[in-house]
Amino acid sequence: MENNQPLREPIIAGNWKMNTTVHESIRLVTELKTRLLNTKDVEVVVAPPFTSLHSVAIALQDSEIKVSAQNLFWEEDGAYTGEISGSMLSDLGCEYVIIGHSERRQYFQETAETVRKRIQKALDFKLKPILCIGETLGEREKKQTLQILETQLKEGLRGIDRQELETMVVAYEPVWAIGTGKTASPEQAQETHAFIRQWLIAHFGKDKGEKIRIQYGGSVKPDNIKKLMEQPDLDGALVGGASLLADSFTQIVRFKE
Ligand code: PGA
Repeated sequence: MENNQPLREPIIAGNWKMNTTVHESIRLVTELKTRLLNTKDVEVVVAPPFTSLHSVAIALQDSEIKVSAQNLFWEEDGAYTGEISGSMLSDLGCEYVIIGHSERRQYFQETAETVRKRIQKALDFKLKPILCIGETLGEREKKQTLQILETQLKEGLRGIDRQELETMVVAYEPVWAIGTGKTASPEQAQETHAFIRQWLIAHFGKDKGEKIRIQYGGSVKPDNIKKLMEQPDLDGALVGGASLLADSFTQIVRFKE
């Protein structure tokens, strides 16, 4: 597909979740580096677990592939056993950080308020937030999808400087599609992405709202990426399971070929 969205470079990110030892991370990223050499017109990001960030950032120093963390804490330092701060991440060479993933909302009591604090702290350290939003199956069946998305956007971004949010990426990830093999149809995804786009335009103004990229996430695979990416408001993908194999992630990144 020739890019009919000159405003927005597609962004494909691999969320490795709680997978890969340091050794495995280096092996995966070394393979990706070779396979994705000379990738054009697509921004590629990998999000390894915290333990591998340093090694992966070093392995990618001479590469175009960017590094993301999967979370951060909103305080800068201090007595917060087990937490990782924004300054630690930017010091490691992270450019992005995933915030508010549904697994964090589901298992770790992430709320709109904690999402908002994390986003603010990410921006303070010049990290680009990948803000995840999405509805559950029950919410979709009750036709609450758009209302849920609006609440997650509104509350997650409340009070944050609009100028700073230009670097943000929004990841629409229907919870029922994550890790289930059920992908939203391209039409379903476009419907929600168009809604998110309208919200961003209403909130940020036309110029900025049209520049913010909206990724789709939830069982993205080599065989469904192309159709998804044909949708006008789909600017990339946040890929879980299929990002753990160099072969499938490469095919997803090279969706245009
Ligand atoms: P999945 O995960 O591709 O394995 O469904 C996506 C995500 O959770 O970001």
